[in-house]
Amino acid sequence: MANGLVRRVITRFPLTSPAARVIINRSHASGAQTPPAKSESKPGGDLKTFQIYRWNPDNPDKPKLQEYKIDLKECGPMVLDALIKIKNEIDPTLTFRRSCREGICGSCAMNIDGGNELACLKKISKGPSSMISPLPHMFVIKDLVVDMTNFYNQYKSIEPWLKRKNPPSTPGKEILQSKEDRKKLDGMYECILCACCSTSCPSYWWNPESYLGPAALLHANRWIMDSRDEYTEERLEAVNDEFKLYRCHTILNCAKACPKGLNPGKQIQNIKKLEMTTP
Ligand code: SF4
Ligand code: SF4
Ligand code: FES
Repeated sequence: MANGLVRRVITRFPLTSPAARVIINRSHASGAQTPPAKSESKPGGDLKTFQIYRWNPDNPDKPKLQEYKIDLKECGPMVLDALIKIKNEIDPTLTFRRSCREGICGSCAMNIDGGNELACLKKISKGPSSMISPLPHMFVIKDLVVDMTNFYNQYKSIEPWLKRKNPPSTPGKEILQSKEDRKKLDGMYECILCACCSTSCPSYWWNPESYLGPAALLHANRWIMDSRDEYTEERLEAVNDEFKLYRCHTILNCAKACPKGLNPGKQIQNIKKLEMTTP
């Protein structure tokens, strides 16, 4: 946790459930206040309401859902377009992360209408309103920005880099890999560390410090499966732990949540299989 002020957001229902629209805060289960919406109405416009989670650590008030109305005819098609429009034209205090706006950096992950999504890849839904909140079960720094420290530390803990015991056969040259071996990394190297999977995983919600979660374990498997890496056994040994690995109960929320179409649960299964078969 970055400081004593950040709070945690909890979904009461599975993220796949329509009821996942209900988002509560531990310290204020039902007190979300909805201030009057600001209207940006124009004749012939197509107004949509965005209910957005707001919390400012410098303000002792409870978190609230704040409503903003924007004209979709004057906005780009993605949720990130709406957030940027709100910030630029209605409320500059609204805080969220974004960088690439094309699904590469992973920084705009948030919960949109009950599902973890990248705001830049998520189209604004049809219907009169949408609700946007921070990634669930994470400590909130401000508004839609969550503290990723624990998530990144878990990624770091799997040592996500090539480890060798022997130097390359030709000094100064690349360590070659066959096309077949390279293919084994498909479905893992594409991960952008957005945390949509880990923050949709019930096991991670209840054991965020001790269970590595789907994203870190996907990366553990990425290096376990890399033919150029010479620390496979040590890597398997490092995650062979009741909490680090075996809190995964194959619920597969992670695969449903991944905006890049990856399946971390399948990679975790592979690690478990190797743990059984590797002497
Ligand atoms: S498969 Fe494992 S990692 Fe994925 S959501 Fe289920 S418990 Fe979590
Ligand atoms: S596996 Fe998918 S959801 Fe999980 S961190 Fe990587 S890109 Fe994001
Ligand atoms: S802004 Fe980079 S993934 Fe959305």
